[in-house]
Amino acid sequence: MAGGLDGIVAADTVLSDVDGEAGRLVIRGVPVEVLAARDGFEGVSARLWEGFVADGLDRAQVRDVLGRGRVAAFAHVAKAVAAGAGLEPVPALRAGLATLTELTGFHPAYAFTAAAPVFLAALLRQHDGLAAIAPDPSLTTAQDLLRMLRGKQAAPTEAAALDAYLTTVSDHGFNASTFTARVVASTQVGVGPSAVAALAALEGPLHGGAPGPVLDMLDSIGGAENIKPWLESRLISGERLMGFGHRVYKVRDPRADVLKGAVRSLSRDAGRLAFAEQVEADAIAILARVKPGRRLDTNVEFYTALLLEALAIPRAAFTAIFAVGRMAGWTAHALEQARDGRLIRPLSRYVGPLPKEAA
Ligand code: ACO
Repeated sequence: MAGGLDGIVAADTVLSDVDGEAGRLVIRGVPVEVLAARDGFEGVSARLWEGFVADGLDRAQVRDVLGRGRVAAFAHVAKAVAAGAGLEPVPALRAGLATLTELTGFHPAYAFTAAAPVFLAALLRQHDGLAAIAPDPSLTTAQDLLRMLRGKQAAPTEAAALDAYLTTVSDHGFNASTFTARVVASTQVGVGPSAVAALAALEGPLHGGAPGPVLDMLDSIGGAENIKPWLESRLISGERLMGFGHRVYKVRDPRADVLKGAVRSLSRDAGRLAFAEQVEADAIAILARVKPGRRLDTNVEFYTALLLEALAIPRAAFTAIFAVGRMAGWTAHALEQARDGRLIRPLSRYVGPLPKEAA
C-alpha cells in the first residue's frame, strides 16, 4: 500500500492537472502562468465554477457577483469576528466562516469566496484593535482585500501582485486540503462545511503553513556568509527546509516563477530578493547532495513568503491569505464531487491484535 496515497489516482476531475515531471499546472485547459498574467482571480474563478455554479461565466460577471457578495457578507461580519476573537488567523477564519450558513441570493461558492476576504480582513484588524472596513463592490478581490486590511486603496502594482498570487494558488489538483474538501462534500453536506474542513487541512506546515517559516528561515540565516553552514546544519540535524520539496513536482514548481515575477514587480527591496535567490540556489544544491535521488526543488511557498512580506501582510496571516485564493478551487471541487462522485469511503487494513479465542 502507498503511504500517503502516493501515486494513487483518487478521482477524475476537469478542474486542474499537475504534471510533476514537466513542472506544469493547467487549470481548465490553461497554464497557470497565462491565467496569472491574463485572467486574474475573478477570471480563474469563472473558469473553475463554469458548469458547476452556472453556465457561460466570465471574469466581469464573477467580479460583479463577488463584489456584491462581499457587501452581503459584511452584514455577517460581527458574528464572524466574535467567533474568531482571540484565535490565530487560520482558526479565526475557520470559526468565522463556520458561522456563515448562507448568503441569501448567492450560490454557496460565491458566498464563501466573497466572505473569506471580508472576514479575514475584519479578523486581522480586530487583532490590532481596529474596526472592520466595509467592502467596495466595484473593486477586485485583491484590490478590496488590501483596502479592507489597510484602510486605504493599494497601489496598482500591489493589487496586481496579490491578484497574481490569488490566481496562482486558486487550484492545484488533489492536494491535501482539496482532497479533504472532496471527502466532506462526498457526504452531500454542502459547499460551506467542505471548504471549512479544507481550511483545517491547509494550515499544517507540510501544506499551506510553510510560508511564515520560510521567512523565519531567511531571518535566522541572517547574511550571505551564513547560508551554506546554516542550511547544512539544519539538514544534518534532520530538519526540513521550508519552501522546498513536493509530493508531485519532481522539478521546480511552476508557480514559484510566477510569484517571483510578482515580487520583482513590487521592487521594494532588491537586496532581500537577491538574498532569497542565493538561499534558494544553495538550498537546491545542498538538498541534491544531502538527499540524492529525491529531486527536491523550490515549491510555491518560497516566493509566496517574499511576496506577502513585500505586501506588508503579517506573517501569521500568510496561510489565511492562501485560503482566500484556494477557496475558488475548494468550492469547485466540492461541487464536482457532490455532482459526479460517490461517497468517499475507502477501506483500511487492520493490523491490531485479534480477539482472543474463547477458552
Ligand atoms: N527539506 C529536507 N528534506 C526534505 C524536504 C525538505 N523540504 N522535503 C522532502 N525531504 C526529504 C525527506 O526527508 C525524505 O528523505 P528520506 O527519504 O531520507 O527520509 C524525502 O525527501 C522524501 O520525503 P517525503 O516526506 O516522503 O516527501 P513528501 O512527498 O511526503 O513531502 C512535502 C512533500 C511535505 C511538501 C515535503 O517536501 C516537505 O516537508 N517540504 C517542506 C515543507 C513545505 O515546503 N511545505 C509546503 C508544500 S507546498 C504546498 O502544500 C502548498
